[in-house]
Amino acid sequence: MAVQALGYLGISTQNIDEWSDFATRQIGLQLVDRTTSCRAFRMDDRRQRIIVDGEHPDFERFFGWEVADAENLDALAGKLEAAGVTVRREPASLSDQRFVRDLISFRDPAGNRLEAFYGPSLAATPFVPGRSISGFRTGAEGMGHVVLTVADFEAALAFYRDLLGFQISDYMRNPKICFLHVNARHHSLALFENPRQGLHHLLVELYSLDDVGQGYDIARAADQVKVSLGRHYNDYMTSFYMQTPSNFLIEYGWGGRQVDVATWRPIEMSTLASFWGHEGLRQSIRGDEAPPMPVPPEGRRAPLQVMDGNYQRLSGVCPWWDAMVARQ
Ligand SMILES: [Fe+2]
Repeated sequence: MAVQALGYLGISTQNIDEWSDFATRQIGLQLVDRTTSCRAFRMDDRRQRIIVDGEHPDFERFFGWEVADAENLDALAGKLEAAGVTVRREPASLSDQRFVRDLISFRDPAGNRLEAFYGPSLAATPFVPGRSISGFRTGAEGMGHVVLTVADFEAALAFYRDLLGFQISDYMRNPKICFLHVNARHHSLALFENPRQGLHHLLVELYSLDDVGQGYDIARAADQVKVSLGRHYNDYMTSFYMQTPSNFLIEYGWGGRQVDVATWRPIEMSTLASFWGHEGLRQSIRGDEAPPMPVPPEGRRAPLQVMDGNYQRLSGVCPWWDAMVARQ
């Protein structure tokens, strides 16, 4: 698989100071580079993950997709060119700005600027969050996921799946939605058919549920919650969505599931409704005229997705879990 993770995201904005404030005090990113027209933020051991640029129009963004090495980058460039996609080998000056060894750039069928890179630089100092959080879950699963709305769904899906090597996690036929993975993260990308093209949201995942709850309190106080706290049915993420100073959202989540890339088979979903919560999600995708999400079937539940060091076992037994195991 050529692309192996979402590596970085670049945003252009006219609200650069507002973005700095939002990124550090609400998301918990670390501001590492500040010029009059540009800010760079860390979320882990990488030199930068989110770059906010005040010089370009508001809609211009770039998505940094990571590949393993120079050989994979060349192979990807060749594959794209053979398919008729214009690929630009970017100069060393841009690699330096991105803190990577090398990169190429090209556009997806919806016109989004994509960059593929390898060899990210690591920071010499530990990550210091902008507010008190336990940290972001990144590593081999990348910085999170992005959800794009695309007018030509089939073209976008073919591009990401057939050219970039993304694999389908799950999908819906009506409306047309597809969740795709490139590593164990349930999805690094989702595509939603919508005439209003753009970035719907970026997910960042926290190590602690309490980080998300405290972020929810802060976002509610600032009146920035666009989608209420809830738990997704497909990736099990407990999350809420907040408005950024740009026209897209940040999903702030905890406890996303992993997929086994070697064995996972695409699943057709009958509903996008969450286990609970996420009020306002459909409106945020389709506009205020969209009807609310249908009430999900009762009785749906899934185990919490935890990692060592972040849970304590209770005494006793769980009848629900025992019954489920017995059924299987
Ligand atoms: Fe999401």
